[in-house]
Amino acid sequence: MKVFLIGFMGSGKSTVGKVSAKKLGLKFLDLDSFIEEQEGKSIREIFSFYGEEKFRLLEKEALAKVSAFEDDLLIATGGGCPCFFDNMELMNQIGLTVYLKISLGRLVSRLKNGMDERPLLNEVSDLYEFISAKLEEREPFYSKAQLILVDDQAGKDKAWKSISKAI
Ligand code: S3P
Repeated sequence: MKVFLIGFMGSGKSTVGKVSAKKLGLKFLDLDSFIEEQEGKSIREIFSFYGEEKFRLLEKEALAKVSAFEDDLLIATGGGCPCFFDNMELMNQIGLTVYLKISLGRLVSRLKNGMDERPLLNEVSDLYEFISAKLEEREPFYSKAQLILVDDQAGKDKAWKSISKAI
């Protein structure tokens, strides 16, 4: 069994993922951390040395690798993962896809303090404008998820209950 958590940066995929995996008896895997281990570089370094295009290829390869693992896994993906290549279709074929859908206002307030650590936000001047446009672009991919949890439903105390019913 594989569960894929998807959603924008700051939607809580890692936190919700860790708690849910524990509750559901699944192993937790963070796709960005997996890429970092494989490459021996941080996501930030990968973006700045090789650029986003190369990162997306590494991300696609990593997704294929973890999808082939035999373990029961809950995988937290990076915010852009469902929006490139046929990644979303692959995840929908392999397992249960869960979209943590967090409102624009909440995303902005969660992301405003961590802008330096996130390569895509490094040089953004108007965070609200940027997130609003990126969300609109990504929503058609995210909305292909089999389970969509909105705002409070997407929090760590509730999400795992909905996931357990959908598995
Ligand atoms: C990205 C999100 C990041 C990371 C990379 C690109 C994106 O992951 O994969 O910086 O395109 O939204 P998080 O969603 O875990 O921050």
